[in-house]
Amino acid sequence: MIYFDNSATTHPHQDVLSSFQKVADQFYANPSSVHSLGGEADRLLDRSRKQAAQLLNVEPQEVIFTSGGTEGNNMAVKGVALQHQSRGKHIITSAIEHPSVMEAFRALESLGFEVTYINVDRYGKINPDDIQKALRNDTILVSVMSVNNELGTIQPIKEIGNILRAYPKIFFHVDHVQGLGKIDLSIKDSYVDLCTISGHKIHGLKGTGALVVQRHVSLFPLLHGGSQEAEVRAGTENLPGNVAFVKALRLVSENTKEKVQALSGLRETLWQELNNRDYAIINSPEEGAPHILNFSIPGYKPEVIIHALGHENIFISTKSACSSKHPDVSSVLKACNIDYERTTSALRVSFSVHNTVEEVRTFLKILDKTVENLKATMG
Ligand SMILES: Cc1ncc(COP(=O)(O)O)c(C=O)c1O
Repeated sequence: MIYFDNSATTHPHQDVLSSFQKVADQFYANPSSVHSLGGEADRLLDRSRKQAAQLLNVEPQEVIFTSGGTEGNNMAVKGVALQHQSRGKHIITSAIEHPSVMEAFRALESLGFEVTYINVDRYGKINPDDIQKALRNDTILVSVMSVNNELGTIQPIKEIGNILRAYPKIFFHVDHVQGLGKIDLSIKDSYVDLCTISGHKIHGLKGTGALVVQRHVSLFPLLHGGSQEAEVRAGTENLPGNVAFVKALRLVSENTKEKVQALSGLRETLWQELNNRDYAIINSPEEGAPHILNFSIPGYKPEVIIHALGHENIFISTKSACSSKHPDVSSVLKACNIDYERTTSALRVSFSVHNTVEEVRTFLKILDKTVENLKATMG
């Protein structure tokens, strides 16, 4: 099997699974319980939070454990907007955000917020000057992803942070779900106020993740109830999930340079080879994230190619399944002004460190054969 769909989700690391199982088995008490078992669970939760904070270079009280990227993004975007609306109702995001940000903005629009959607260039990149120009007296939030999930475009987070630094009343949220472990991002040095990360994209478990919320930021909670997670996320903590998430975070933080180099090597090989093929057009920027390569095979439905590759035990994906209401068009590629034929025939390959150059070569061989067969049958 060749699994090249790591931006959708990754294979959980064995150590992550062991951590989960051990904690679920041995620390099942509720951390809020006053008895000694509850105390032990609470101490383990504290320890995990401290470790996460250390790995992310933030303070423990700035780490809110979540169920993943979608929750973190909703918590940040809606939480800031609802909490600070008395100061202004203008919020800013880009035209190519993940649906968990985009739809949160649309929901806020329906509640009376005014949204500016910043346009991107041909490769999905934001010009920081456009953010500067969009700022108003009533702006309270800017939300930009660090790495686009379809194209792998890396956004100029540090530059945007530097602009927003001069506006302490505007909160800066970064969806770092695709960037974690792949690109450098210092939350503090980039003046990021809120940062979303997700466990299952880094060989952790589905249903785990964190939102980093800097101390000076207050949020309107999405979930009301108990006082867990600094009173912004009520509900009994997922202690085994949180410990497993921190394990994944630790693992992704080890030897990052070597891992990024390995991923870049795979991407470079695929890039060079696809560039030599008449049937493929690369959509990703050359200077993109090391694990994502998006390309189109005009004239062929991506689903047909994905199914044909699936028969050969090769797994890649089309545009993010939830990124467009229209089943065929990638809204991300459309926002990049890429023509209709290419926006409807885009494929995404996304690597993990478990992939090899041999797999890339096998993939290319089978892709060539698949396109040849399709050409023959379609005439
Ligand atoms: C950029 C980005 N943000 C957010 C999410 C949502 O994360 P989760 O699946 O953990 O809810 C994804 C998932 O694909 C993503 O790629």
